[in-house]
Amino acid sequence: MSSKKGLKDAYSLKTPKDNINLYKIWASSYDDDFAKKNDFRSPSLISNYFSQYSHSMDFPILDVGAGTGLIGEEMNANNKLELDAIDISPEMLQAAKLKNCYSKIIEADLTKKLNIENDSYGAIVSAGTFTHGHIGPNALDELIRIAKPNGLFVITIHSKFFVKSNFKQKFNEIKNQITNPIYHEEHAYGNNPDKDHGQDTVFIVVFRKK
Ligand SMILES: C[S@@+](CC[C@H](N)C(=O)[O-])C[C@H]1O[C@@H](n2cnc3c(N)ncnc32)[C@H](O)[C@@H]1O
Repeated sequence: MSSKKGLKDAYSLKTPKDNINLYKIWASSYDDDFAKKNDFRSPSLISNYFSQYSHSMDFPILDVGAGTGLIGEEMNANNKLELDAIDISPEMLQAAKLKNCYSKIIEADLTKKLNIENDSYGAIVSAGTFTHGHIGPNALDELIRIAKPNGLFVITIHSKFFVKSNFKQKFNEIKNQITNPIYHEEHAYGNNPDKDHGQDTVFIVVFRKK
């Protein structure tokens, strides 16, 4: 099967198993054929917003749906931060590991209960994972459980997926557990010719666990 995969393939996934199968094929070409070619902005946006909102207590950090480690490259090129990667795809995680930006690599399904203790992480970051065909609002429950009190969240949520999957209702349900979310709407791509998705936007959602 061709390793040339794209947003159409990613957005039409239905299950975690579908994700494992797609990213197994896509891992080797994802950085060059997808991220660089389309100027995928979400990892650098997350890095920039994290710098804007974080303080010295917001560690260790968990990169949720870390994939090939683009957030790690942006945030931790000198490998000075304690940054862990979690993802369902062993092939994507292998690519992330080779970048030497992560302290720990965790293979897990974010739609299930995670084998991580309560109150473990001072920050949760994520790019491109709360989106069509990937993980939905309910994954936030486990992430809030494993975040430390006052832990910082800086995550992208695809703006159309936000509406389709009713994140508004989810944020309303969890409002007693988190601070009021702040939303920054940004273009996900600087240069993506895809006529259906090239102009897609994401919300960079920022909040803290209470
Ligand atoms: C579009 S990629 C984003 C990767 C990286 N964060 C980036 O910005 O390039 C989405 C990632 O979510 C992961 N993923 C999808 N469903 C998942 C699940 N149920 N549990 C854990 N990871 C999942 C995929 O394996 C993939 O690496």
